[in-house]
Amino acid sequence: MLPAIAWQGRSVVMIDQRKLPAQETYVRCRTYIQVAQAIEKMVVRGAPAIGIAAAYGLVLGVMALSGEPGPSLDRDFEKVYKRLERTRPTARNLFWALERMKAVYERTRMRGLRAVRAALLEEAKAIEREDAETNRAIGRHGRALLGDGMTVLTHCNAGALATAGYGTALGIVRAAAAAGKRIRVFAGETRPFLQGARLTVWELDRDGIPVVLITDGMAGWFMRRGEVGAVVVGADRIAANGDTANKIGTYSLAVLAKENGVPFYVAAPTSTIDLSLADGGGIPIEERNPDEVRQAGGRLVTAPGVEVRNPAFDVTPAAYITAIVTERGVHRPPYEKSLEAGTRES
Ligand code: MRU
Repeated sequence: MLPAIAWQGRSVVMIDQRKLPAQETYVRCRTYIQVAQAIEKMVVRGAPAIGIAAAYGLVLGVMALSGEPGPSLDRDFEKVYKRLERTRPTARNLFWALERMKAVYERTRMRGLRAVRAALLEEAKAIEREDAETNRAIGRHGRALLGDGMTVLTHCNAGALATAGYGTALGIVRAAAAAGKRIRVFAGETRPFLQGARLTVWELDRDGIPVVLITDGMAGWFMRRGEVGAVVVGADRIAANGDTANKIGTYSLAVLAKENGVPFYVAAPTSTIDLSLADGGGIPIEERNPDEVRQAGGRLVTAPGVEVRNPAFDVTPAAYITAIVTERGVHRPPYEKSLEAGTRES
């Protein structure tokens, strides 16, 4: 399987996540505008994958620039940067990756465009490579949280498709399975975009990990019946106090988990943590096209003009989170302390 994103020649190739599992097709982006549109339209999605795509998008943007170092080139760079930054507001990884790329531009800009381009491409590749390593580490740290024979409930898709490979929440599942534990996954379908039904099921099936698809509204009932051993989800942005933005519906799962005594784990790279925000109140929540809710599988399922709300994410207060697993380890409350210590440069 090709990774969700790959740099090929002078282009970025992505598996079209809108079409899975019915079709396995790839989209080739040759310009930064095409990459920005691919992020907006969800050809590529998932916090770390969005960051990697944007980093390669910036490389494509700078490849098309010309001119000598100076204010005019800086303005052109800024235009590319801003377009990529405007694509989706919630995932911290997008801004984190772009900031890393900008630091490289600033270090190399006086050396001329050839040197800038080479350094930017190297940095984008490093971001991708490091994310793949990070997910393996999350898996190693998190696998002990899952017991043999456990059923794990997950939401959305925090798997290989959402990252450079292996996944965060699904990385923990994969690592536990690889360690010989018998793990079964309940995948919530994740209305309206159906990342759970379409992507998580597809990934786990290919890995031979047993997966059961449930609708989002069934989760509480299965928890109450004692059929869920743990909830493991990914994250789009984690504030300094541990409040966590993730796919809409995550908050409901966390409340239900607490009510039913089920541990609730968040798995994410430290690049998802935003220490500039004291709590989740400042996390920007993306509102998407209302037609995503009016339709299912591209077909209208309601009155055409009905008013709709479509926030793509919600924020789960830290009080509902049993632990946050990053590549640095398993962080427990109080998160103000454990996350700060876990993100400090070692
Ligand atoms: O709207 P999406 O599909 O980009 O949302 C994805 C999620 O909410 C994931 O859980 C999150 O980005 C973590 S992916 C490792």
